[in-house]
Amino acid sequence: MTLKAAKTWFLRLLPVVLFFICYYCSQFYFESDGGSGKSPQPTVSLCHSYRMKRKWESLKLNMSRKTELFLKLEDFFWREHLSAEALPYGIKGSELLLLKVLAVTSSFTMPANIESLDCRTCAVIGNGFSIKNSSLGEIINKYDVVIRLNDAPVRGYEEDVGNKTTLRLFYPESASYNPGIHNDPDTLQVLVPFKQQDLRWLKEILYDEKRVRNGFWKPPPQIWLGRASQIRVLDPYFLRLTASKLLQIIPLQPRRQQKPVHPTTGILAVFVALNYCDVVHVAGFGYPESRNQKQPIHYYGKDTMRSMKNSYHDLNQEALVLKRLEDQGAILYLHPHS
Ligand SMILES: *[C@@H]1O[C@H](CO)[C@@H](O)[C@H](O)[C@H]1NC(C)=O
Ligand SMILES: *[C@@H]1O[C@H](CO)[C@@H](O)[C@H](O)[C@H]1NC(C)=O
Ligand SMILES: *[C@@H]1O[C@H](CO)[C@@H](O)[C@H](O)[C@H]1NC(C)=O
Repeated sequence: MTLKAAKTWFLRLLPVVLFFICYYCSQFYFESDGGSGKSPQPTVSLCHSYRMKRKWESLKLNMSRKTELFLKLEDFFWREHLSAEALPYGIKGSELLLLKVLAVTSSFTMPANIESLDCRTCAVIGNGFSIKNSSLGEIINKYDVVIRLNDAPVRGYEEDVGNKTTLRLFYPESASYNPGIHNDPDTLQVLVPFKQQDLRWLKEILYDEKRVRNGFWKPPPQIWLGRASQIRVLDPYFLRLTASKLLQIIPLQPRRQQKPVHPTTGILAVFVALNYCDVVHVAGFGYPESRNQKQPIHYYGKDTMRSMKNSYHDLNQEALVLKRLEDQGAILYLHPHS
């Protein structure tokens, strides 16, 4: 090629090159300006994948994130479940009950519209008194996933706690007989099996069998008006690792006579969220100081610290861990707290 020919080619290509340079410059300009004209969404900037990855690693839990939350039928058909432990930390000895329960619940995943999100923002709403008068309802409703616990009510408290519920973690003693009242039609009802009776309770309801009433510390509902298709069973993996890695309550199986210590559904929900979500914000966590026996502990009802006296939980350890997670930036409180 002669020099002249090369020069001609260069001149012909120049506009094309310039066009691309301008195009990329403008893209860069608009991105740094917070998106192409739309007002920047707070969640988008929260969802920086690099930061999220570092956040999980900074927890130093020595484990990878697990985003499959629920037990599936395949776990039993295709491979022997290598569970060395019984409930609540494993499924050893409960396989048959689980098989029956999972056989009639149609799906084992999260809804596709949430699964497919590049970045999942989650709010874990504890039942604590601290959320009262917070006016957080509208903010809470904006998260992709809102996790609630046990039988915490929504109706009548929307202003403070919102009315969206994506997941509700519960066990039989904390189930409400009509989940339709305080949930959305498509809320997933996630059973946290603490003991074999919990699975048996669900099986009896799903198959409409005679209810066995013993083995519960509080009578669970005998009628349950939820839909089978909305039921999921949380993989005991999450409770096991909440106890062993997050809270480091050791040993998991206490010696005889010793009272077992299990994580609360609240700290469990935070751990589940840290695994599944890219952004974890919390509200309604924390208990009043134990000296104050008269202060209510929930945003509803009249329970006080007195009712927690015989609980199977280590609330001090949970408070320390929540504080650590907050200091590490892994969770963010939506309201001021002590
Ligand atoms: C991390 O976990 C693996 C297996 O769970 C274990 O073998 C290893 O010792 C752990 N490392 C640390 C630093 O705790
Ligand atoms: C919440 O607000 C109501 C009405 O303004 C007030 O009576 C009540 O004392 C407040 N409760 C708390 C815990 O701040
Ligand atoms: C939540 O409240 C809003 C506004 O009052 C309403 O439009 C929406 O249908 C409610 N959602 C649920 C699940 O109750």
